[in-house]
Amino acid sequence: MANAEKLDNSKLVYEMRKSFLDNKTGKISALMKEMKNIPAEDRADYGKSVNELKQWALEHFEELDKKMKEKELQLRYQAEKQDVTMPAKMRYEGNLHPVTQMRETLIDIFAGMGFEIYEGTEIENDYYNFTALNTPKDHPARDMQDTFYLSPEFLLRTQTSSGQIHVMENSKPPIKILSPGKVFRSDDDATHSPMFSQMEGLVVDKDITLCDLKGALELFVQKIYGEGTTTRLRPSYFPFTEPSVEVDCSCFACKGKGCNLCKGTGWIEVLGAGMVNKKVLENCGIDSDEYSGFAFGIGIERTAMLKYGINNIKLLFESDLDVLKQIDHYE
Ligand code: PHE
Repeated sequence: MANAEKLDNSKLVYEMRKSFLDNKTGKISALMKEMKNIPAEDRADYGKSVNELKQWALEHFEELDKKMKEKELQLRYQAEKQDVTMPAKMRYEGNLHPVTQMRETLIDIFAGMGFEIYEGTEIENDYYNFTALNTPKDHPARDMQDTFYLSPEFLLRTQTSSGQIHVMENSKPPIKILSPGKVFRSDDDATHSPMFSQMEGLVVDKDITLCDLKGALELFVQKIYGEGTTTRLRPSYFPFTEPSVEVDCSCFACKGKGCNLCKGTGWIEVLGAGMVNKKVLENCGIDSDEYSGFAFGIGIERTAMLKYGINNIKLLFESDLDVLKQIDHYE
């Protein structure tokens, strides 16, 4: 057994064992076969010695085999050791586009206030996009929205406000809808794109006032731009609301002190809104003495641009992954 130290794996142990203990070819069975050449009087002693040797070898190899297997198991454990505290490999996952995320966030906010979704159509006729919204032909307010006409009657809607008319024609108050969708205007610069998305809100019920509008919008700006954000209403003009307001929120970047984002004013313009013009209610067969309502129109890209600090609307449409990855759209 002089070589036992060299046995460093269980296969070698097995082979060595075989070379000693194999019934046919083993060294010990060769010793047994020598028996016939041993003088008769010595045979008993010889046989006993060989048997003792065999017994010793059996035990020795068994022990060696056990040790070797244990050692190999430990080596395997060592090699296959897993560090469960290691940080996982980073995997890039697809994300929803920031505009889609903003759209869904807005829907969640207003759904939480009980608004239902009405999705209108992108092709509208002149009546729903303009006339019913108190903007008849030749009305100067039509110039506010440069329109893509498909024919003298049909056009690509310039505003989701057209949805207001469809909803009011088809349902009775109380009405509380949110109408997200694409709108189109022949307008193209750093902050305007010929196609963009709006989210219209319309509430019609008894005793709806401007305070209800302000309350709903205050909740909206707080959810989007952070607690403590407030709103202010400035007089404005839309043909389909009276009074009309431009809604500003206090600058969430400088908390109203004045910075680049708010151009030093402490306020940021976020959307247009107002009380539904009585003429519009009447156009849809709703008694304007009994009911009143408010409406607002949020630009979804504009809200995303403000929130993520993007100054060129094109960045939202070019789908450049390097740009999109920089937009931190996770809260
Ligand atoms: N439709 C208006 C626009 O696109 C926004 C608006 C909606 C204003 C509802 C008042 C009420 O500019």
